[in-house]
Amino acid sequence: MKTTVSGVHVVDHPLVQHKLTLMRDAKRSTQGFRRLLNEIGMLLCYEVTRDLPIEMVETETPITKMMAPTIAGKKLVFAPILRAGVGFLDGMLNLVPSARVAHIGLYRDPETLEAVEYYFKAPSDLADRMVVLMDPMLATGNSAIAAMERLKARGAKDIRFMCLLAAPEGIKALQDAHPEVKIWTASVDSHLNDHGYIVPGLGDAGDRMFGTK
Ligand code: URA
Repeated sequence: MKTTVSGVHVVDHPLVQHKLTLMRDAKRSTQGFRRLLNEIGMLLCYEVTRDLPIEMVETETPITKMMAPTIAGKKLVFAPILRAGVGFLDGMLNLVPSARVAHIGLYRDPETLEAVEYYFKAPSDLADRMVVLMDPMLATGNSAIAAMERLKARGAKDIRFMCLLAAPEGIKALQDAHPEVKIWTASVDSHLNDHGYIVPGLGDAGDRMFGTK
């Protein structure tokens, strides 16, 4: 794993990079795009959770007793930003089936590009849990910033951000607003265009995943 900008982990594993290239292809089907996003969700989640605290517990194999590692602390919370963040969810839950899920409904106002909240439902004890906030595209950063504000307002303290692609503008905005946040991404792309799309990017992740264009 590469760290290019401080606080940003670029997951450069060949499987992730190969699948990302397949997703960028404008001819990729909706079905293929969705499957790949789930697969990459699982692989990114593996890296995001790499330093989870471990505790030793006694267990009995068919041969003998031993002390063996398990994940310590409360269950994780996966927090997809609706709707595109949901594309990561199944893959992540395959990897961590006991995780809780917080749904954060935000859409981008097409004129102002500001994040507008329309839904929020999360476990009540966010303060005690590690939260992985997810959105495939970190573009302007407005949605991620707004989602982090809402999670913090409900008590969350340990929040990590996971995306597929990040624009340098979005990374800067998110880190300016929430300097402690750590970001995991498969790629840091070149820049945002005048419509707030990541270049070269992959287009509108929500539309491509749900076939709505
Ligand atoms: N959201 C998307 O879906 N794509 C972009 O390029 C930027 C924001």
